[in-house]
Amino acid sequence: MTLLSTHRLHKDFGGIVAVNDLDLNIEKGFITGIIGPNGAGKTTSFNCMTGLDVPTSGQVIFNDIDITGLPTYRINRLGIARTFQNLRLFKEMTVFENVRVAKHRTSSAGNLQKDSGLWLEKLGLWTYRDERAKDLPYGLQKRLEIARAMATNPKLLFLDEPAAGLNQTETQEIMELIRSFRDSGLTVVVIEHDMHLIMNLCQHITVLNFGQKIAEGSPESVRNDPQVIEAYLGKEDHAAR
Ligand SMILES: Nc1ncnc2c1ncn2[C@@H]1O[C@H](COP(=O)(O)OP(=O)(O)OP(=O)(O)O)[C@@H](O)[C@H]1O
Ligand SMILES: [Mg+2]
Repeated sequence: MTLLSTHRLHKDFGGIVAVNDLDLNIEKGFITGIIGPNGAGKTTSFNCMTGLDVPTSGQVIFNDIDITGLPTYRINRLGIARTFQNLRLFKEMTVFENVRVAKHRTSSAGNLQKDSGLWLEKLGLWTYRDERAKDLPYGLQKRLEIARAMATNPKLLFLDEPAAGLNQTETQEIMELIRSFRDSGLTVVVIEHDMHLIMNLCQHITVLNFGQKIAEGSPESVRNDPQVIEAYLGKEDHAAR
């Protein structure tokens, strides 16, 4: 079953076409990967689906609702949460406050404290709850972004480069976390340059280049697609691991 789809989604910035008539289908209950070279339009397509950018044209349909151009808070309330490639935490706030602010939109005041604590515990951040977000090591700041997104109780989670800047152990932990989300019924879409993560986690992969979809399918089919190798895998040697 399709949870989210885009129809000829298009975004340009002045003369630059970032997303070019993109048709996407995100299947419910799966982990979908989005890969492609720098500047391919991966983040912009996320932005168009989560209300950060207003598409120039085209449509975004989530759960049979047309969400094209809706503001982020409304899209979030409908059940879509995300993390950012460049972290967007409230740096001066504590770890606990960062999650509580996110939860505020979805919880009644009564269980706000409890639910925020729950997500911090699940993500291994409870011991850091009173530290300021900016004082956490980078790997934990990335976890905090995930905790904050999950605290809004999404049906669909977009992750923009969750493993970037993490070491191998941290990357492995993030992979297990994403898998556990999927196993509990969440639908996940992940942008990554880490091919080990993409190939091991995703059931379905979409490849973008110059804002367009150049291939999609199973990890196996994408890995062996000559066009994908030419545009991305071969050149940057991502497939080696
Ligand atoms: N706000 C903006 N204003 C102008 N141009 C933009 C803006 N955001 C993105 N672009 C351009 O749109 C294109 C797509 O960028 P985008 O960030 O979506 O790529 P990406 O696939 O996420 O790349 P990366 O792997 O480096 O994160 C690029 O040419 C980028 O410079
Ligand atoms: Mg990006």
